[in-house]
Amino acid sequence: MNKAITEFDKNQSYYVQEWQRGYESQPKEQEYYIEDIEGKIPPELEGTLFRNGPGLLDIAGTPIHHPFDGDGMICSFSFKDGKAHFRNRFVRTEYYLQEQEAQKILYRGVFGTQKPGGWLNNIFDIKLKNIANTNVIYWGDKLLALWEAAEPHSLNPHTLETIGIDYLDGILQPGDAFSAHPWVDPSCELDGGQPCLVNFSVEPGLSSKITIFEIAPDGKLLRRHSHIIPGFSFIHDFAITPNYCIFFQNPVNFNPFPFLLGLRGAGECVEFQPNKPTRVVLIPRDPKNKEVKTFSVESGFVFHHANAFEVENKVCIDSIAYPSLPQVQPDANYKEVDFDNLDPGQLWRFTLNLADGSVARKLVESSCCEFPTLNPDKVGREYRYLFIGAAHKDTGRNGPLQAILKLDFETGERQLHSFAPHGYVSEPIFVPKPNAVAEDEGWVLTLVYDGKNHRSSLAILDGQNLAVEAVALLHLKHHIPYGLHGSWHSVAVA
Ligand code: CO
Repeated sequence: MNKAITEFDKNQSYYVQEWQRGYESQPKEQEYYIEDIEGKIPPELEGTLFRNGPGLLDIAGTPIHHPFDGDGMICSFSFKDGKAHFRNRFVRTEYYLQEQEAQKILYRGVFGTQKPGGWLNNIFDIKLKNIANTNVIYWGDKLLALWEAAEPHSLNPHTLETIGIDYLDGILQPGDAFSAHPWVDPSCELDGGQPCLVNFSVEPGLSSKITIFEIAPDGKLLRRHSHIIPGFSFIHDFAITPNYCIFFQNPVNFNPFPFLLGLRGAGECVEFQPNKPTRVVLIPRDPKNKEVKTFSVESGFVFHHANAFEVENKVCIDSIAYPSLPQVQPDANYKEVDFDNLDPGQLWRFTLNLADGSVARKLVESSCCEFPTLNPDKVGREYRYLFIGAAHKDTGRNGPLQAILKLDFETGERQLHSFAPHGYVSEPIFVPKPNAVAEDEGWVLTLVYDGKNHRSSLAILDGQNLAVEAVALLHLKHHIPYGLHGSWHSVAVA
């Protein structure tokens, strides 16, 4: 056991045992108006924050191997007239229902959760759970829980009851994938300036098929086109500009045999290739333009992109890059992660030169950080401010996210709002104030796990004065396990 497991880490300002409890299951479904509030909810804040993440880290007491294999649980925080209503519900996927009925693990997870009984009971069983645990969005009059390797599930936005697998009115076919990382282009040039949802799917193999979907606010398909790129791909996220979809093809190999033989989860068979470059693939959003461009840049691993934009004949992409892939280990316990021995995710700016095919990269923020967000009006455009989950201190190594960091690309100013030593943040979401003029005029919402009291609180921070005391802290009666992604919907659902 490494020393950080038992001791308070003064360097990082966290208690490992407290951090670990944020990975306890939350099986209980509740709904109530939040009454334990520090500060005041701004009365102008109206709408709903939807969040998704693994709600169960065990099935009937048997731990799952990795949080990414945990059943999706949706939370809604609905704001109106200075009040906030909370609700949480599991996505009732067919797998969730079967396993809760059987009270045991019935399916293999991508990240190593195996059925009991060793490899004999897992061999050649490639049926994976669609666990609907990664993101939740409201688009085309539907609330959709997303998981990147399968179809979305739709939910009733008011009750969070699961309606079922949703094929988006025929846009998807049974078995199709739909990534958990769509972007909303706030003003699509191809559609006369109306917003559109841009998403993708990947069919991995020896070569990879990337399909791009562009969907109108009413849910109708505007554009769909597919492209084959050479090599295996593990692509979780992408970036958009008015003219391009940008994909980072991380240098990884997939060895399917341990997975097929039942020895490992599929996610454990992805091997980082430190000596190979990352390929950056630019696909034009206009299907009439078939010219896919590929660039090469030093090795690294990217899960999430912050934003991208075009300047003259250059395309800039801001991404969280890890020097090496944090690999899922078959025998490791994710709760005993040794942060000091893990590479940090850091913010880099990649600049692609469309004229000569070169790529420049620059480290923008060296602190360990993840889960970037920005003003939604600036998606795909030049922007000034980024908000991101960050470690309490820049130690040059990995660490739990305990703070929200605001970066000003114009002045270089950094503002940090830290919840250390007891608080652990989730992805921030930026909500512009009504009639806002300045890009940072809005609220930053983040769910914080309070390890001291084993409960979660929703923090409302002032986007323009991030480092000062929170505008409001809304304390839940219980904890929510560390989540993944979510989004803001401008209508209050409660
Ligand atoms: Co993600």
